[in-house]
Amino acid sequence: MSAPENQAPEHGSESGAGVAEKGDGQGFLVVEDLHAGYGAVRVLHGVSLRVDEGDICAILGPNGAGKTTLLRALCGMLRGQGTVRLGGVPLTGRPPDAVARRGVAHVPEGRGTFMPLTVEENLRLGAYARRDRAGVQADLERVYGHFPVLKERVKQAAGSLSGGEQQMLAIGRALMSRPRLLLLDEPSLGLAPMVTRELFGIVRSINQEERTTVVVVEQNAHLALDIAAQAHVLESGRIVLSGSAAEIRADEQVAQAYLGYRI
Ligand SMILES: Nc1ncnc2c1ncn2[C@@H]1O[C@H](COP(=O)(O)OP(=O)(O)OP(=O)(O)O)[C@@H](O)[C@H]1O
Ligand SMILES: [Mg+2]
Repeated sequence: MSAPENQAPEHGSESGAGVAEKGDGQGFLVVEDLHAGYGAVRVLHGVSLRVDEGDICAILGPNGAGKTTLLRALCGMLRGQGTVRLGGVPLTGRPPDAVARRGVAHVPEGRGTFMPLTVEENLRLGAYARRDRAGVQADLERVYGHFPVLKERVKQAAGSLSGGEQQMLAIGRALMSRPRLLLLDEPSLGLAPMVTRELFGIVRSINQEERTTVVVVEQNAHLALDIAAQAHVLESGRIVLSGSAAEIRADEQVAQAYLGYRI
């Protein structure tokens, strides 16, 4: 399980600078020739991809492909070589708190919620660096709007929540930092299909209502392709296939490898 990230972006004057608009052909998130790994273990071997602002992008691929490593490199937890830009601003080599201040929120594999703390305390942690009390309160209500079940459980310890509720809490905490880019690592992990479906529906409405750009790593390719505009297939640290969600869904190789049927 990844360590929880408790650094929330402040909303300083730099946060809106140089934002590339959707459809400008430049990409909002731009990743070029990214290499990353763990010490001598090299995992990503030159990953390149672009995500337009306001889009949902799915990263698919088998176990050990490097999906989690890619998200860790994007949020600054791992120092990579190559280019990562958000809204035209280079993020490569910046520490996680600086990347978070640029508007990147990471919901790690395993969620990273603080089990003994209450739901509300966990959510407030996502906003701990913010000084605008009224804004934080409004954002709490906004998160409860997306996840009404969290409102019913405000004073409950996170550890007493169901798996689905804990994933909602982790996403809610990320939203408390008002991210421009939300990185979700296997949100469906360990959840029942119905709960996963509900969760993905909420991710889609967050994306639509708040125009938050989302990169979602997911083994459940069906669900991810349902909500994504674009998708990339990662294998052994390299992107082996990229396209619109419809193109990827229609690809026979992907269908056989990840969707569990032949077309
Ligand atoms: N902390 C680490 N130290 C060394 N090697 C690691 C570490 N974490 C992951 N790896 C290795 O990096 C490779 C990619 O792992 P990663 O977790 O990014 O894959 P993944 O695509 O997210 O897989 P999964 O679908 O199982 O979550 C694997 O070979 C893994 O063993
Ligand atoms: Mg992973």
